[in-house]
Amino acid sequence: MEHRQRTIIEPFRIKAIEPLGITTRAERTVALQKAHYNPFKLHAEDVLIDLLTDSGTGAMSAAQWAALMLGDESYAGSRSFYKLEAVVRELTGVTHVIPTHQGRAAEHILFSATLKPGMIVPANSHFDTTRANVEFMGAQAVDLLYDAAMDPRADLPFKGDIDLGKLEKILVEQGDRVPLVMVTITNNRGGGQPVSLGNLRAARQLCDRFGKPLFLDAARFAENSWLIKQREPGEGHRTAGEIARETFRLAAGFTLSAKKDGLVNIGGLLGVNDGALAEKCRTRLILTEGFPTYGGLAGRDLEALAQGLTEVLDEDYLEYRHASVRYVFDRLDAFGVPMMRPPGGHAVYIDGGAFAPHLPGWQYPGLALTNALYIEGGVRGVEVGTLMFGRPDPAGGHDEVAPLDLVRLTFPRRTYTQSHMDYLIEVVAEVWQKRDTLPGYRIVQQREVLRAFTAELEPIS
Ligand code: F0G
Repeated sequence: MEHRQRTIIEPFRIKAIEPLGITTRAERTVALQKAHYNPFKLHAEDVLIDLLTDSGTGAMSAAQWAALMLGDESYAGSRSFYKLEAVVRELTGVTHVIPTHQGRAAEHILFSATLKPGMIVPANSHFDTTRANVEFMGAQAVDLLYDAAMDPRADLPFKGDIDLGKLEKILVEQGDRVPLVMVTITNNRGGGQPVSLGNLRAARQLCDRFGKPLFLDAARFAENSWLIKQREPGEGHRTAGEIARETFRLAAGFTLSAKKDGLVNIGGLLGVNDGALAEKCRTRLILTEGFPTYGGLAGRDLEALAQGLTEVLDEDYLEYRHASVRYVFDRLDAFGVPMMRPPGGHAVYIDGGAFAPHLPGWQYPGLALTNALYIEGGVRGVEVGTLMFGRPDPAGGHDEVAPLDLVRLTFPRRTYTQSHMDYLIEVVAEVWQKRDTLPGYRIVQQREVLRAFTAELEPIS
């Protein structure tokens, strides 16, 4: 971490390459039409730079690929499990380590063991799958961000913090209905914004006062730790690893999608300290995931995850990752592209509604921008707005629109280089030049649940 005045480089060299699908504008126009103007329906080989998600899309290291060969595929008592368990215990301090096939399985198992209809789960913001799993149990998922954090333009360091006043109010007034409190680090739903250590310590104290366990949705724990180191007064001298270790030890347990900061393509973890709860969870795990020493994963997956968890807190990696997000953000900001501020750890969010103000929310300005980026340069982002969260009008009128029509450009880990980022910036700038011409869209066909993944649309001419 010397020579800070120089370019922050990718702290790795490339050992295996995967060719990109280079297409022409005419080919992309046909591909998008065939996908019914829904980027989720594109064939990935027709995408040049895929920023749909950072989940399971990162590159593994040589050490991880080598670890695959060490995978012990024993049904019970796999050596690879004990290796992973030791790594996770050292990182998190948790007593019981339960592997799952991905994050949402850990959520489902935790909530099926702790929730009953009518209960309430407070969080800073629940990620979509967390909310869905809480609601599936007949309980209510309540999001408690500070009001200021909900303004996309407010440039505040810790917009992921849980509002302690609102949390205390719920615990005082309806505490008997609250079995646990969740905090998502970083807060994906709210723009990948970090949660401060100060906030986590205070949330833990509040939970202790009311006798409630604090759980983390720790999918992006390493990014959260790095942003604490960068932004929180008094924490800059500590390593990201020290911060991560303290963060986990403030909680009674966690769910974790290993597809993010686990640096693997598939995997998840559930960690709990409470032995009785762990037993309940393991019983459910056997029903849906598998035996407790593999939990829906192959032995080689456990190996790759154990190795990934030891690599992700490397500060040269974390510095490079955040520098590339910041690099894209700063350049787009200089053009005047409206974005959520400040950038978080894993993505840049463009405000599609402000980018194309001639399009009303019910014409999906976020999707209009997403599709324009694809046509212009083969870049795939994801709409996080009215198509994803708005509601159709049962009477056949316009949708009830989402508060914001965002486009998330999500950065896979260790996958793209600086020149890919430069290309991305050029593509966004070109679309920005012709923003007045972006067409709106109408839905031709949709499902009742999770319509964004499968809806078919057409441009409004
Ligand atoms: N929690 C958070 C904060 C997430 O971002 C995700 C997934 C999950 C839980 C669920 O984990 O996919 O392994 O089952 N986020 C992905 C995304 C899908 O694109 O943001 P999973």
